[in-house]
Amino acid sequence: MSEDHVTFVERNRRTEQEEEEEENKKPRLTRWQRFYKSRITLLSIIAIIFAITVPVLVFYFVLTRPDRSVIPHTCAISSEFRIPCGDGNLTETECRNERFCCFDFTDEYCYHFLPSKYGYYPVDDASYYRNNRTHDVFMNNANPYLRLAVQYVNENKVKIILHYSNEDSTTIEENANYIVDRYEDTLGFDIYRKDPEILLLTTGLGPLMVSENYLEWSFYMGNTLFGLDELLFSGNETYSKVIYKNRIDHTTVPAFMGYTNGSYHGIAFDIAGPVEFLVLPSRLVSVRVLSSEQISFTFVTGPTPKDVQQQLYEFDLPPRWMLQPHICRNGTGDINSITEEYLSFIANNSDVEYATDCLHQNLHYLMYTMNDTEREVMDTTLDILRQNSKFIMTLYPQVPNENETEIYITAEELGLLYTSNDSQTTFVHSGVHLGKEVAFLDYAGDTGYIDTWFETMLNWLNLTQLDIDGFSLRDNWPDDEAFEMEWAEQLPYLNGTFMSHMSHTIAWNATSSLQQPHFRLHNNYANGQVEMLRRNFEELAFLTTSSYTTTTNGAYAQVQNMNTSWTNLRRVIKTSLTHSLFSNPFIFIPVCGSTSGYKPENQDILCSRWYISQYAVQHQDTSLKTKTFSVHVGT
Ligand SMILES: *[C@@H]1O[C@H](CO)[C@@H](O)[C@H](O)[C@H]1NC(C)=O
Ligand SMILES: *[C@@H]1O[C@H](CO)[C@@H](O)[C@H](O)[C@H]1NC(C)=O
Ligand SMILES: *[C@@H]1O[C@H](CO)[C@@H](O)[C@H](O)[C@H]1NC(C)=O
Ligand SMILES: *[C@@H]1O[C@H](CO)[C@@H](O)[C@H](O)[C@H]1NC(C)=O
Ligand SMILES: *[C@@H]1O[C@H](CO)[C@@H](O)[C@H](O)[C@H]1NC(C)=O
Ligand SMILES: *[C@@H]1O[C@H](CO)[C@@H](O)[C@H](O)[C@H]1NC(C)=O
Ligand SMILES: *[C@@H]1O[C@H](CO)[C@@H](O)[C@H](O)[C@H]1NC(C)=O
Ligand SMILES: *[C@@H]1O[C@H](CO)[C@@H](O)[C@H](O)[C@H]1NC(C)=O
Ligand SMILES: *[C@@H]1O[C@H](CO)[C@@H](O)[C@H](O)[C@H]1NC(C)=O
Ligand SMILES: *[C@@H]1O[C@H](CO)[C@@H](O)[C@H](O)[C@H]1NC(C)=O
Ligand SMILES: *[C@@H]1O[C@H](CO)[C@@H](O)[C@H](O)[C@H]1NC(C)=O
Ligand SMILES: *[C@@H]1O[C@H](CO)[C@@H](O)[C@H](O)[C@H]1NC(C)=O
Repeated sequence: MSEDHVTFVERNRRTEQEEEEEENKKPRLTRWQRFYKSRITLLSIIAIIFAITVPVLVFYFVLTRPDRSVIPHTCAISSEFRIPCGDGNLTETECRNERFCCFDFTDEYCYHFLPSKYGYYPVDDASYYRNNRTHDVFMNNANPYLRLAVQYVNENKVKIILHYSNEDSTTIEENANYIVDRYEDTLGFDIYRKDPEILLLTTGLGPLMVSENYLEWSFYMGNTLFGLDELLFSGNETYSKVIYKNRIDHTTVPAFMGYTNGSYHGIAFDIAGPVEFLVLPSRLVSVRVLSSEQISFTFVTGPTPKDVQQQLYEFDLPPRWMLQPHICRNGTGDINSITEEYLSFIANNSDVEYATDCLHQNLHYLMYTMNDTEREVMDTTLDILRQNSKFIMTLYPQVPNENETEIYITAEELGLLYTSNDSQTTFVHSGVHLGKEVAFLDYAGDTGYIDTWFETMLNWLNLTQLDIDGFSLRDNWPDDEAFEMEWAEQLPYLNGTFMSHMSHTIAWNATSSLQQPHFRLHNNYANGQVEMLRRNFEELAFLTTSSYTTTTNGAYAQVQNMNTSWTNLRRVIKTSLTHSLFSNPFIFIPVCGSTSGYKPENQDILCSRWYISQYAVQHQDTSLKTKTFSVHVGT
């Protein structure tokens, strides 16, 4: 065939094929080699400048698997692999002389050496590791030692903990489908799939530093990475995500899924303190925790997304009715006006079918101040409601200090409330929720005392008589309208993003019943609440607004603070696809319209699609087989 007879399309196709053939002719590189090769672009430019040393490095990286003990520290790292030193914004002197980092004059950027000069080196046959630096990048005293525990969970699942307690709890089993390969010269490791042997995760590229309220670490799982609330990282920019649940974001789960050589693998962190994930364009992930608790995560080998999901979390799908529309009303009012509103709503919308009704989001608080006449009105209204739908009662984690009610006093006496202190005294920590002065129940406290408190609440609210089908746990990050985070010198890496995430939730330094400042436990607050409620109300269903991540069945998620709009639907599809992989079933049940906002003519189509999409996400078999489903929504 002469060139004249080749069409444009064929010519292009041929070029692709030729390129592929070219590609196939090249010697096969291992993953490590390809990984290092991807950094050569900049290396080759710099090679012109550092003509003597760098070509040696390049050669070395590409052709052999690096032996970590002989790699010198280099600054010749292409930009998409550069881990910022601190926040990267330092002067040259600060950067090089004080922080032991690399400085790029072209963009005045400070970043870590490769490998970083911040690490821990093994002592005593690696039974523990000592710090190479006395300071972290913020010039705070660094923790002198660390330990690494590698715990076998099952053949596809391993738990890894960097800690500084005294136990050495490493367990390894022969039948594992993974290999955890520790470095000899520093605290770090690679994880391989065993058969075929493929590198899945490496941790030796970035710094490891731990000081009193700062911990920094990094990992790399290949350049196809899913997770956080991004689904798939595009790789064209640095993505930063702070996880400290508040009203801005209470659902993002600290978990990722990688894809390598046809298989998927997953990682889920257990970090209760404020944490930031920086995903660099290379998908190298830098993890920064504002409290130096241990860093611990679970790694699973997949190999399908469905396997990753099941290996990380075991749960059942929610009952079908939970995937149907729920109606909840907002605002405040007395029970008479609420009843009126409810009756008018069902009269106006007699053709709208929905699964549950909360009567009123604020009902629980109203009950604190109801007199007998009002209670009767409420009971009658609930009888009507239950003929039409199920009753989901909204339950807040805050306890109003409403004229020192019995349940408030009991919680205080049992030591279940967060406290604060001034130099002389300790007192119950208070905040503001829905305009009321409230205290915060600490669900991580003594379970026996919590059971006693629930019993008191049950009697006080006469819950048995209420005959509820479940609880809707709203604002359970937990919300505090009054608290604004201010600069605190104890937290070195506290920039604006962290400050806004640490506001509007319980104060970071309120003291929990475990005598710990709250911020160290914050991200597990909803977990504690759900677990304690399930313990005490086994039969009930739970909807939660904060993500809930344990391996047991807990609560199903609902959307909060989100208007029903096409833009939000698009956003929710993306986030719920990722969340459904990593946490409690995220059905993202939208409360499709409160009485004031519900306009059937505008919202029915959008709401129906919203429900269908959420239903489909949960029933999507992640092994990618197609499955049929049916869903029933309102008109
Ligand atoms: C960098 O630091 C300087 C001095 O601390 C500050 O004035 C400037 O706003 C910072 N720049 C950025 C982009 O954060
Ligand atoms: C850390 O310090 C030890 C002992 O001084 C040394 O052998 C090791 O090479 C150092 N490692 C790094 C990464 O600086
Ligand atoms: C990165 O890519 C995504 C999708 O590919 C795009 O939406 C986004 O605008 C890009 N960002 C930049 C900074 O180019
Ligand atoms: C990827 O998988 C194929 C098929 O299992 C195998 O032949 C190949 O060597 C693998 N690549 C790497 C880098 O291990
Ligand atoms: C619900 O009420 C709160 C405060 O009472 C208000 O901030 C919020 O905007 C309301 N939400 C809707 C959807 O009306
Ligand atoms: C019911 O319809 C009437 C008349 O259109 C309207 O005034 C009222 O606000 C509606 N009630 C509710 C709760 O939507
Ligand atoms: C609470 O105390 C205030 C002021 O003493 C009083 O006006 C109000 O009626 C009390 N509420 C209840 C529920 O007793
Ligand atoms: C109960 O409260 C209502 C106000 O909502 C009031 O009108 C009524 O008199 C009260 N009843 C009793 C018995 O105190
Ligand atoms: C609260 O008490 C702790 C010790 O119990 C003390 O270190 C701290 O300074 C006190 N806080 C204030 C604001 O005085
Ligand atoms: C709880 O409800 C039951 C059934 O209506 C009623 O008999 C009982 O008196 C109520 N208890 C309290 C403390 O209000
Ligand atoms: C908690 O931190 C705030 C600033 O965020 C400070 O004003 C307050 O005094 C601190 N409280 C205690 C008990 O240390
Ligand atoms: C906080 O630091 C992160 C990471 O360095 C950065 O992405 C973010 O823009 C910073 N936020 C502010 C408000 O400085």
